[in-house]
Amino acid sequence: MHETLERWSTRRAFILAVTGAAVGLGNIWRFPYITGENGGAAFLVLYVAFVLLLGLPVMMAEIMIGRAGRRSPMQSLGHLAARSGASRHWRWLGLFGAATVFCILSFYSVVSGWSIEFLVAAINGDFRGASAADIGAGFDAFLADPARLTFNHSLFLAMTLLVVAAGVAKGLERLNNLLMPLLYLLLVLLAGYAATTEGFGVALGWLFLPDFSALTPLVVMHAMGHAFFTLAVGACALMAYGAYMPDHQSLPRAVGAVAVLDVAVALLAGIAIFSVVFSQGLDPGEGPGLMFVTLPIAFAELPWGALWLSVFFLLLLLATWTSSINLAEPMVATLQGWGLRRGLATAVVGVAVWSLGMLSVFSFSSLAETRVLFGMNPFELVSTIPPEVFLPLGGLLIAIFAAWVMPEEAARYALDVGPGGFRLWRGVVRWVAIPLTLVVLVAGLS
Ligand code: PFF
Repeated sequence: MHETLERWSTRRAFILAVTGAAVGLGNIWRFPYITGENGGAAFLVLYVAFVLLLGLPVMMAEIMIGRAGRRSPMQSLGHLAARSGASRHWRWLGLFGAATVFCILSFYSVVSGWSIEFLVAAINGDFRGASAADIGAGFDAFLADPARLTFNHSLFLAMTLLVVAAGVAKGLERLNNLLMPLLYLLLVLLAGYAATTEGFGVALGWLFLPDFSALTPLVVMHAMGHAFFTLAVGACALMAYGAYMPDHQSLPRAVGAVAVLDVAVALLAGIAIFSVVFSQGLDPGEGPGLMFVTLPIAFAELPWGALWLSVFFLLLLLATWTSSINLAEPMVATLQGWGLRRGLATAVVGVAVWSLGMLSVFSFSSLAETRVLFGMNPFELVSTIPPEVFLPLGGLLIAIFAAWVMPEEAARYALDVGPGGFRLWRGVVRWVAIPLTLVVLVAGLS
């Protein structure tokens, strides 16, 4: 069991890597559609509250464990548990995280593949002059074609694993440096365009004027799950990145920056998408197709629309790429911890994720009506239960480990905060984050 020697080269590189993991489909694709399905502003308020109260402190806990352990998640947990005389069974939490990202990456790769298809279509100018109805019908026809979905899913997964096999710190840094600033620029432009559409005012009201009367325990659980998902917290994926974090960098500050960047992307995407929805009389509760249908409509109306749309899908693809690299990392790190070479570990992960992903591919055609569990088809199941139940459960256990089990001096050193800051963090984790997660999970599931 050796400490990893790989490190992000600078503090900025670490923040960018974590932002790269956080910003992805969760912000641009999932946030708008589940906000649409769950009624708008009240859901948004809850989601932001969960980011602040749970996401941030637990994210610190997760990265801190990786930084203190400097090994794969399983080994870091086992090592730190042994140091404080606790049970070494804590290491199974690392395996639970790997199982969670396994499920998530399987559908994530399929949906990211959709952006490849849309990127190519946008470059071809396929959406030029198309009506909203044409675009919607084109999307439905695409989903019903398993061969095209399989091709894009395979391509995207191969892209991801190529970087993972090379070792994340090196491969990812260069990509992140360029990508994030460009993504913001484009989203700001898009939101600026949205401000000129007639649906803008309605969209703002719908997003920011909450009506709490429609909230149910299930909606609250959706919001909590989404907070974990969007921040990439709860699956030990950031723990794996924490192992590469340089010394002498304040963790709370880094994590705060990431959360602000992450929520900003979701809000910009939400404003742009819902302005189009309300301008065009579309249904906000349209589901997973929401972004893929609305944005081509919006861009079709803009000067240079095809060009903007191509750039947008390119950036979305890059953003999902950096997230899926993070999703693959805990699985590869776990297998490596068991003695497999990195290349072989990556290949094993690739075959397994690809196979599970095929169930999502067929969920839009032959398996659409196959109810596996809770009345959901395979895609609905893997895109709901792992983000909304497994991530909070993993986050809960990570929080318990960080605030109650691991040696205090190791925690304080790895967080890189003063005594007052440490007590504040631990108080919030112990008395806010842990009970709140537990209550929302139990209420949502019962
Ligand atoms: N945060 C990513 C997104 O919003 O798209 C998804 C994600 C990445 C979830 C890594 C979980 C994870 F461990």
